[in-house]
Amino acid sequence: MNDAPVIAVDGPGSVGKSTLSCELARRLRFHLLVSGALYRIVGARLPPDAASAADAAAIASVVSALDVRFVATADGVEIECHGRRVTAEIGGEETAAAAARAGESPLVRAALLAMQRACRKPPGLVADGRDMGTVVFCDAALKVFLTAERNERARRRYKQLRERGVDVTLQGIAEELARRDQRDRGRALAPLRAADDAVILDTTNLSVAQAVSEIVALAAQRNIGTSE
Ligand code: DC
Repeated sequence: MNDAPVIAVDGPGSVGKSTLSCELARRLRFHLLVSGALYRIVGARLPPDAASAADAAAIASVVSALDVRFVATADGVEIECHGRRVTAEIGGEETAAAAARAGESPLVRAALLAMQRACRKPPGLVADGRDMGTVVFCDAALKVFLTAERNERARRRYKQLRERGVDVTLQGIAEELARRDQRDRGRALAPLRAADDAVILDTTNLSVAQAVSEIVALAAQRNIGTSE
């Protein structure tokens, strides 16, 4: 395994992980892994019930063919699958629910493990997800676990979806977040939790710039990367 430094950024849905991770990767000029996008793409491509039926052949054929890239732009992360931008297509709540179901499958998690670890390249990697610090990169140089009050997370998600023209209600988003939190925290394998050595960062009252600065400062304390 190579020893390029990894910054693991974990936390629940709509806490701002991708926005922060993207900005952090840009500041440090690190590679970026948005693992939720992999679960979203796999969840959307698997035949219904393939994950719960442990259909190894179907899972292997979907995962082995995947060619996903993450591009950190000034406007946020763009996700490309086989050279095509799929960011908007996989960004919806239905795909998030399919991703959470796929994430309960040990076969899916095992199949995605090597792909995620292959993203670790010099000069370093910012890895965003649920189990980056606890499973995928246990030896990460810095582990950050983001939190924010659920109402604030619902508000952020609502704003983001409305800006994209998606017709949603704040109440509906809050209920969906609560369901997904329960699913992510309660699953048997790689449940959402902070690693014992993670720094917990509550972003409820922090702007994106403030939260990024906090993480850059934590990285600097550990001599990880050099920001612009
Ligand atoms: O980060 P996100 O909201 O796009 O993730 C969508 C779902 O994918 C999440 O509810 C559970 C699953 N997931 C996972 O199981 N493990 C990860 N490392 C990232 C996401």
